[in-house]
Amino acid sequence: MDTIRPGQMLGAYRIISQVGQGGMATVYKAYQPSMDRNVAIKVLPRQLAESPEFVTRFQQEARIIARLEHPHILPVFDYGESDGVTYFIMRYLEAGTLKSKMEAGRPLSLNEIDRLFTQLAEALGYAHSHGVIHRDLKPANALVDEQGNLFLTDFGIAKLLESASPRLTQTDAIMGTPAYISPEQARAQTVDQRSDIYSLGVILYEMVTGRVPFTADTPLAVILMHVSDPLPLPSILKPDIPEPIERVILKALAKEPNDRYANATELLAAWKRALEDANTVRRAPEKILPPVSLASSARTSAPAPKAVAASGRPTGWIIGCVIGVCLLLSIAGIVVFASRSQFLSFLNPNTATPLPPTQTLTPIPPTETPIPTAVPTSISDVLLKDDFSSKDWGTLNETDDVVEYDGEALRMKIFKKNWFVWSTPNGKTYENIHTEVTATNNDGEATTAFGIMCYQQETASDYYYLAMTPAGEYTIAIAEGDKSDVFLTNNDQWAKSDLIKKNASSYRVGADCSNGTLTLYVDGQSIDSVSDSTYANGGVGAFAWSGENVSSADVTFDDFTITSLK
Ligand SMILES: Nc1ncnc2c1ncn2[C@@H]1O[C@H](COP(=O)(O)OP(=O)(O)O)[C@@H](O)[C@H]1O
Ligand SMILES: [Mg+2]
Repeated sequence: MDTIRPGQMLGAYRIISQVGQGGMATVYKAYQPSMDRNVAIKVLPRQLAESPEFVTRFQQEARIIARLEHPHILPVFDYGESDGVTYFIMRYLEAGTLKSKMEAGRPLSLNEIDRLFTQLAEALGYAHSHGVIHRDLKPANALVDEQGNLFLTDFGIAKLLESASPRLTQTDAIMGTPAYISPEQARAQTVDQRSDIYSLGVILYEMVTGRVPFTADTPLAVILMHVSDPLPLPSILKPDIPEPIERVILKALAKEPNDRYANATELLAAWKRALEDANTVRRAPEKILPPVSLASSARTSAPAPKAVAASGRPTGWIIGCVIGVCLLLSIAGIVVFASRSQFLSFLNPNTATPLPPTQTLTPIPPTETPIPTAVPTSISDVLLKDDFSSKDWGTLNETDDVVEYDGEALRMKIFKKNWFVWSTPNGKTYENIHTEVTATNNDGEATTAFGIMCYQQETASDYYYLAMTPAGEYTIAIAEGDKSDVFLTNNDQWAKSDLIKKNASSYRVGADCSNGTLTLYVDGQSIDSVSDSTYANGGVGAFAWSGENVSSADVTFDDFTITSLK
């Protein structure tokens, strides 16, 4: 690894710099020209690549790890071998790890612990349900971004290294992180998910008390303490720790696997109950939401729409991003950017005035090819059918985003994290409608959200939006002026649905916006429904929204229809 230098190519990746060195591997930041993105490359010890046995095993394990897809598991993009080194390609995440967060010199609040621990336990529970045991759970393997989102990494790598090569002794491998090792792992016995539960217990212990339970002069001494020393009570280190919370830690850290929580879900449930019992903590009011979080905290004020023809955006209305406001929004960590087409409004005074509802009905010629719809509707119910051949939708071309026609389709590209861009076909008001659009996720990024917005008010800063991601998440939400958006589904959190096909290239997204009920459809299946009667009519459009940690989104919309709900 000493031969890997900045500027050098490793496979298809150009090394930028070394970002970290762990017990067994070195992590580099690198650039992937084909995708125009930075990635992290974890390079395993050079001598491993010389063992054919290891290489086979590595490929098997890597495939299992790459299949894990969870908002709190760091995605592994690829793995490979070149120039005698074996490596994983992962999403690159600036910011730090849970380790650096805990070392920052201030104790974590129970609120903060709750948020991080919940993300950690959920990620772990998900991996366990897919048959993957982590085996090296420790704060250094939990990357945390600036918004406080946690991403667990290095699944199964410990096992890979343990079994790797005669040249790496087992002690070398397990010695990587004695502070978090379970007694059975320390004894080199076979481990199951309860070994991870123990390590998770050590992390919880450390979060709550500020230190790990066992420390000693040598790694071996620490390992032996895990096997046979009684656990120093958390309340000795931190006398004000609520008793129910201490009990959860003690049970997670039982020496005997049978005496622990059987799985991460049980542990998490017990933790939540303890928090409630302790009555010391309110749920954090702010939402830190995977994978995207327009709604996460302040969705700051969007000024009234401005016609910007004079300032060089002849085809758009811009809200929410007059320069000063953008700055404020960025500081708050949340940026809202929206564009709205009023192209025709500027050029054609007739369309500037909202049309009376009776005139919104656009009959379509019966010869048109039918497109799949989630809700059967008769042709006379069609209010708008748009194959994007007539170029009415709002477009724009900015540093952070582009909305443009791509042949007979509308393409939205975003080059910034957590950035929301939308466009509408007209300035009309609709009510009691079913809308559908085909959305193609061009770059395969699973955390990109997209969907339909409806009942957009005159000011354009109030509307509903129905969003889904290729990771299977969704929300039905309301945006109101300068208030925080509210996710009306799943207690104001992203929800997950198995009905949403994972990582499909295209989805048919549908929405009922009727008086008092909003329903999201994906590929003809009803995903969820909510009641809200704040708005009873308004404008309709499509949007794309880049992930919280992903500075790109690329979505193409086609075959947009609005039909009336009877
Ligand atoms: N995907 C990533 N993006 C950015 N930094 C990373 C990434 N993965 C690991 N790192 C950094 O590299 C360091 C070394 O990682 P690793 O070799 O796994 O050792 P350890 O987990 O023991 O610290 C980590 O502590 C972290 O700071
Ligand atoms: Mg690591």
